[in-house]
Amino acid sequence: MLMRAAITAVAGYLPDDILTNADLEQMVDTNDEWIRSRTGIQERRILKDPTKATSDMGAEAVKELLDKRGIHADEVDLIICATVTADMHFPATANLIADKVGAVNSWGYDLSAACSGFIFALTTGAKFVESGQYKKVVIVGADKMSSIVDYTDRTTCILFGDGAGAVLLEPTEEYGIIDHKLHVDGTGANFLCQKAGGSLHPPSHDTVNAKEHYITQDGQPVFKAAVKGMADVSYDIMQKNNLAPEDVAWLVPHQANLRIIDATQRRMGLPAEKVMINIQKYGNTTAATIPLCLRDWEDQLKAGENIILAAFGGGFTWGAVYLQWAYNV
Ligand code: COA
Repeated sequence: MLMRAAITAVAGYLPDDILTNADLEQMVDTNDEWIRSRTGIQERRILKDPTKATSDMGAEAVKELLDKRGIHADEVDLIICATVTADMHFPATANLIADKVGAVNSWGYDLSAACSGFIFALTTGAKFVESGQYKKVVIVGADKMSSIVDYTDRTTCILFGDGAGAVLLEPTEEYGIIDHKLHVDGTGANFLCQKAGGSLHPPSHDTVNAKEHYITQDGQPVFKAAVKGMADVSYDIMQKNNLAPEDVAWLVPHQANLRIIDATQRRMGLPAEKVMINIQKYGNTTAATIPLCLRDWEDQLKAGENIILAAFGGGFTWGAVYLQWAYNV
C-alpha cells in the first residue's frame, strides 16, 4: 500500500491587537478606499508585546493543534517552521517552538520561502511521513511581519499582518497529500526582499539609516509575476491530475492581494464560493495565510474533498499542492 501524509488537525494563533485601514490613514498618506480596492484588506492583527516574537505565536498555534488532536507534545517527531521573521537568525524558530510546547522528542528546522513557505514546508514534511520514518510531523507557518515593516512606507505597511498557523501530518493509506508543483526563480530576488541584516549587508548604522532592515518591494513586477505564477501553477496541477473545475472543492490561496486570488480562481474556472478568502481580516501574514484559511474553514471541509493550496512569494517562490482532505469535524 502507498503511504501518504494527511493533515489530521489544523490550528492557528492571531494576536488581539487590530490595525485597521482607518488607523493607517493616521500614519501614512493613504485611505481606506484605496487599500480595499487595490488589495481587499480591511484590517490586520499586530503582535504589540515587544517581549513576544514569531516563536510565541507559533507555539500557541502548536499547543492548540496538539490539544485538538488530543496528543501529547512528546509524541511529535519533527517540527518544521516556515518563516521570514525568525526570532533570531539562529537558533531556528522551530527549535524555540519545540521548547515552548515541550516537544522534547522532536527535532526541527526553519524553512525560508517567504509567502510560499507553508506549502514548501508541507511538501517537505510530507516526505518524512511518506517514507514511513515519522508518524507525527508538525508544520508551522508563522510570521511577525510587523517586525520588518516600515510603518512610514505606505506601499508596504498596508499589506502585512502578524499570525501563525499549524497543521499536523500523520500517515494514512487513504486520503492525504497527493501532488505538488513548486518553483523558485532567483531573478526576482530584488523585487521583494529585506536588503540588510544578512551576510551580504550585515547590520550597521548605515543600513539602519537607509531603512534596509525593512521589507522593500517593487509592487508592480511582484504583482505581475504573482498573478501569472499562482494562476499558472494552480491550473498546471489540475491538468497534471486530470481535475476539472467541478472536481475541485476548494482553492486555498495565499492571501497577498484579492486581485491575485481572483486571477487564480478565474484561470482554474472555479466559482467564487469555492475560494477561501480571509485577507480582509488578517492581511498578508506571509507563511501563516494558508493554515489560517484551513482553520477558518475547517468546519466546512469534508473527507475526500479535493483541495488545491497555492502560493506566490518573495524570492520568487511559488507553487501548488493537491491534497484530499482527510477528516470531518
Ligand atoms: N495608499 C494610497 N496610494 C498609494 C498607496 C497607498 N497605500 N500605495 C501606493 N500608492 C500610490 C502609488 O504611489 C501610485 O501613485 P502614482 O500613480 O501617483 O505614482 C499609485 O498608488 C499606484 O501605485 P501602484 O504601485 O501602481 O499600485 P498597484 O495597483 O500596483 O497596487 C500593490 C500596489 C502593492 C497593492 C500591488 O502592486 C501588489 O499587490 N503587489 C504585489 C504585492 C504582494 O503580493 N506582495 C507579497 C508577496 S506575493
